Amino acid sequence: MPQDRIEHERTRFERAPLVVGVVSSPKDCPRGTPVWEQELSAGAVCMNMLLAARASGFAAQWLTEWYAFDGRVDDILGLSKSERIAGFIYIGTATEDPLERPRPSLKHLTKSWPA
Ligand SMILES: Cc1cc2nc3c(=O)[nH]c(=O)nc-3n(C[C@H](O)[C@H](O)[C@H](O)COP(=O)(O)O)c2cc1C
Repeated sequence: MPQDRIEHERTRFERAPLVVGVVSSPKDCPRGTPVWEQELSAGAVCMNMLLAARASGFAAQWLTEWYAFDGRVDDILGLSKSERIAGFIYIGTATEDPLERPRPSLKHLTKSWPA
């Protein structure tokens, strides 16, 4: 790997003063909360963390990137086979405004089921 790429990977978690890794850790309980709902809950944790950080005056971003999907990283973090990284929440003070992007029309993303 070229040296500049090594440096890029080595400093990924230094792009913000705080990075919180959120791990989905569903428990398989036959009459309990479905695994799917437990997994969604990890996403809700991420989203709430973003909102809390933003409400507290910080900038925050939810990233996964390749290291959220790599078994070697899971091993280093001590995850079990049933656990998965839901995301890394980068939190810090914004140095510039985020770039806007084209947004899809809400009309094309939603559907109504009339009574
Ligand atoms: C589950 C999840 C994973 C994401 N992973 C990445 C990522 O790996 N790289 C990236 O550039 N953006 C990623 N994003 C998007 C950024 O967090 C994005 O800035 C955020 O969704 C807000 O931007 P938006 O308002 O344009 O959607 C991810 C978003 C979510 C919800």
